[in-house]
Amino acid sequence: ALVHRRTFVVKEVPYTRLCSTKNILTVNGQFPGPTLYARKGDTIIVDVHNKGNQNITIHWHGVKQPRNPWSDGPEYITQCPIQPGAKFSQKIILSTEEGTLWWHAHSEWDRATVCGALVIYPKKGTNYPFSKPHAEFPLILGEWWKEDIEELYTEFLKSGGDPNISDALTINGQPGDLYPCSKPDTFKLMVEHSKTYLLRLINSGLQDILFFSIANHSLTIVGSDASYTKPFVTNYIAISPGQTIDFLLTADQDPHHHYYMGAKVYTATSNPFDNTTTTALLHYGDFTPSNSPPFSPYLAPYNDTNSSVSFTGRLRSLADKIHSVVDVPLNINDRLFFTLSINTFPCRQNDSCQGPNGSRLAASVNNVSFVTPTVNSILQAYYYHANGVFGDRFPDFPETLFDFTATDLPLYLETPKSRTEVKVLEYNSTVEIVFQGTNVTAGAADHPMHLHGFSFYVVGWGFGNFDKDKDPLNYNLVDPPLQNTIAVPVNGWTTVRFKADNPGVWFMHCHVDRHMSWGMTMAFIVKNGKFPNAQILPPPPDMPPC
Ligand code: C2O
Ligand code: CU
Repeated sequence: ALVHRRTFVVKEVPYTRLCSTKNILTVNGQFPGPTLYARKGDTIIVDVHNKGNQNITIHWHGVKQPRNPWSDGPEYITQCPIQPGAKFSQKIILSTEEGTLWWHAHSEWDRATVCGALVIYPKKGTNYPFSKPHAEFPLILGEWWKEDIEELYTEFLKSGGDPNISDALTINGQPGDLYPCSKPDTFKLMVEHSKTYLLRLINSGLQDILFFSIANHSLTIVGSDASYTKPFVTNYIAISPGQTIDFLLTADQDPHHHYYMGAKVYTATSNPFDNTTTTALLHYGDFTPSNSPPFSPYLAPYNDTNSSVSFTGRLRSLADKIHSVVDVPLNINDRLFFTLSINTFPCRQNDSCQGPNGSRLAASVNNVSFVTPTVNSILQAYYYHANGVFGDRFPDFPETLFDFTATDLPLYLETPKSRTEVKVLEYNSTVEIVFQGTNVTAGAADHPMHLHGFSFYVVGWGFGNFDKDKDPLNYNLVDPPLQNTIAVPVNGWTTVRFKADNPGVWFMHCHVDRHMSWGMTMAFIVKNGKFPNAQILPPPPDMPPC
């Protein structure tokens, strides 16, 4: 295993999209940011220099970071932010992950432009569980706002309502042919006829699940969230913010044509959303394309929940001794039931309170709207025994309390409690979480839930209320997919399992940033095990000061 060293200089540079120029926060001036490459088991040390004018943190999304929560990145959860002019050397310890992950800012909404791919190759001497592709490329889906991202975020907080919608979706930072002033820079993928390519698709977007497809070509799914899956053939992908999908593409169509790949939003809510389509081009390199317009991919209607859940429901882990050992916990020590709600708070003075009936919008897990600490991080407070930063009484919520997906839920559920509460887990305990979507006041939505420090097995999902007697009988304990982000379907539930074998403080949240900022987040503390090799590593000397 190797140790790689990389430098990330966070700085503002001007970028032009959609006919206008603005300064954006970047890493090394690049948007999307640089791709990190390593092999399974390697370590990457990234020296993060903040040369921008705002606080920042960087998170390595999907990296378990065994015993090393110090470098995980979420601001005020595991560290205080890196201040302008300061530097933090983060250690990315790759253990069991293999495939595609990504990194992104984990402070305010900076990840809109501060993000990039993390490619983890098999160990030396081992291979992919499929034939070696001719070449491989990351495809990063994202969003573009004409507005400054810091302003967007500040305005969003002030308004109490939904944020402004993005002005474009992007593929590798480019909106593509269908947007003004964007055609010349459309991302182009050059392929050779009859060759097979590995594409590493990442949804880095802040707000929505996306549908993705390539005209006339079928896609063979081989992995998600740095874990291989049983291959399956599909003509579209549904991908959550935070999630990655690896697929093989064989260039087997008429090389005299060119083909669009495209992405657009899936949403089950009636809120305004960016209803545009981003495209990139697939070119067969050795041929001069005909003058006819490129073929367009079929993308499902924006509210096609079935297409979204049926794609996700097809993911199965590869029960293959070399590439993935399925070790889904069978006996559960901690059964957790977490409701996910969009709520409202009463209007505060000086706010514009654009939520329903003059309220401000909120969101919660078990009716607790998480309050992010502002002066210390939970990890540092826990490690150094500082009081007053967080509570350890994250509430239980009985499964049978309500008909969560009904329209006549009791009014008191509308207003959550504001708290900084964590759930404490014993080292090596086996944990099951049932995420239950609800239809509280401000309405139901899909919630891509993401856990730091672990991947979890997704053992079941369904619509309506979770039935604790019947639904567990249908759990897939044989080949459930191993993911770090899973979209809990609108007005439905999803069950995940993991073993708490990674001591530390680990954030969990909806990866839709407006839901996250409204409080649909919580954190776990996993206690140290008995032996030194089951305990949190000592903190690095250059932790950013609080
Ligand atoms: Cu991709 Cu907590 O983040
Ligand atoms: Cu959500």
